[in-house]
Amino acid sequence: MRVLRVPRRTPGALCALLLLTAPVSCTAARGDDAKPAAASAPLSPFERLLPAPASVVPEGLGYAFGAGTVVRTGGPGAPEEVRRVGELLAEQLRGPTGLPLPVVDGEGGEGGDGVRLRLDGGAGELGEEGYRLRTTPTGVTLTARTPAGLFHAGQTLRQLLPARGTGTVPGGTVTDTPRFAYRGAMIDVARHHFPVEQAKRYVDQLSQYKMNTLHVHLTDDQGWRIAVDSWPRLAEYGGGSEVGGGPGGSWSKDEYRDLVGYAADRYVTVVPEIDMPGHVNAAQASYGELTCDGRAPERYTGVKVGFSSLCVGKERTYEFIDDVLGELAALTPGPYLHIGGDEAHSTPAADYAAFMDRAQAVVARHGKKVMAWHQLASARPAPGAVLQYWGHDRTSAAEKAAVATAARAGHPLVLSPADHAYLDMKYDKQTKPGLAWAGYVPAPRAYSWNPGTYLPGVPESAVLGVEAPLWTETVSTRSDWELMAFPRLLSLAELAWSPAAALDWTAHRLRLAAQGPRLDAQDIAYYRAPEVPWP
Ligand code: ACM
Repeated sequence: MRVLRVPRRTPGALCALLLLTAPVSCTAARGDDAKPAAASAPLSPFERLLPAPASVVPEGLGYAFGAGTVVRTGGPGAPEEVRRVGELLAEQLRGPTGLPLPVVDGEGGEGGDGVRLRLDGGAGELGEEGYRLRTTPTGVTLTARTPAGLFHAGQTLRQLLPARGTGTVPGGTVTDTPRFAYRGAMIDVARHHFPVEQAKRYVDQLSQYKMNTLHVHLTDDQGWRIAVDSWPRLAEYGGGSEVGGGPGGSWSKDEYRDLVGYAADRYVTVVPEIDMPGHVNAAQASYGELTCDGRAPERYTGVKVGFSSLCVGKERTYEFIDDVLGELAALTPGPYLHIGGDEAHSTPAADYAAFMDRAQAVVARHGKKVMAWHQLASARPAPGAVLQYWGHDRTSAAEKAAVATAARAGHPLVLSPADHAYLDMKYDKQTKPGLAWAGYVPAPRAYSWNPGTYLPGVPESAVLGVEAPLWTETVSTRSDWELMAFPRLLSLAELAWSPAAALDWTAHRLRLAAQGPRLDAQDIAYYRAPEVPWP
């Protein structure tokens, strides 16, 4: 693969370069972490891009969007999918610009003006998701090897235009590829039920920052949220509770399919999680046969963990997980089924290992790959199983070492360190929703860690990516969800996408600030973190 030789520039250096090439205003003063956040001077559009791209080369004059701008999706023979990506991009741009932006077939090359989407099967250096965005006075050309890359290019283009109104995309070339293949967010719809529409809204939000995975924690002690035809009481009865005693709810199979399709259109893969052998009270309340004594417990609306366990010695348990995982696999085009495996405090260690052996075999039989929380490392992870690390600074060295050993044995890691990546941790003691068992996570803390060097003994090559989980014991409304997720989700998106050399809080906090008007324009109820100089 050809290595791109254009170094990524620091914002200051980029600004200096821009001053040589275009009449833009730059500031040399970059603020300082220790000082209170001050209003920042305007950044150039390239400097505002979040996640920071791998390479930007400003050059010449830009392209002014106007009433005549069209989106061109390739000539005869161009795949239908490119047309679909172009339609979606046009729709995303019409709202803020107010322009008609018709999508036309033909002249996907340099030939016609406007926005041109171009698949280039030979652009190997752009990989599975990378893209090039080149702007000249006649238009903006988006080039990628895959439709996913074109989609990401479109998200960059959105950010090169004003949050509201039309404008000029600056001249030059952005060449960009992700650092990590897995860039995820998790939503817990079990502790509190949320409608599929809220999950789709989150897909819109995270995909514009180039995240590509939505992990959905579908089941827990407090509620079962997905219809299973062979065990209907799971959703019908087990769905009817949530933390605090609210009505709960569940998703039909059609609603789940709708979410999966909506996400796929935005190049987001859904990873469904059925947590086991612990976190199963809602299932056991629905079917007493899932307990060892055959008696169904009451539904549970508190916030304790670790008190429930499937009955490891009972064959009916394995018929249950085979049915559930089989139906879920059939609904899920993505490669992974997440089987939890965390906090199984009521399952003896030998039983836990025996259970997880069989559960992993069930996943494989249904044609999927296993994903599980990192406690599986202490049992017998199946070949290829992906482990999701959720420890923190006070996690024992022995526990971290078990994860590192598994990683070196070939188990890819997704990193969700709770004291950096858990979006349900309070920012500080004033934050109304949220928990603090892993400590407070103010905005700089969400950003200030390096996934490639984070776990001792784990090489970057073993890190599949980064995920930001949002647990909902204390989160029951859209506004609380968005308050906890934003802006920290954006910081984690940058950690997952941008090259290590681009990671710098002082510059990142200015990029965050620049997103404020975009978040406002999308009515996202973000937290105005005091460390960020919001406009
Ligand atoms: C977890 O936070 N129990 C994965």
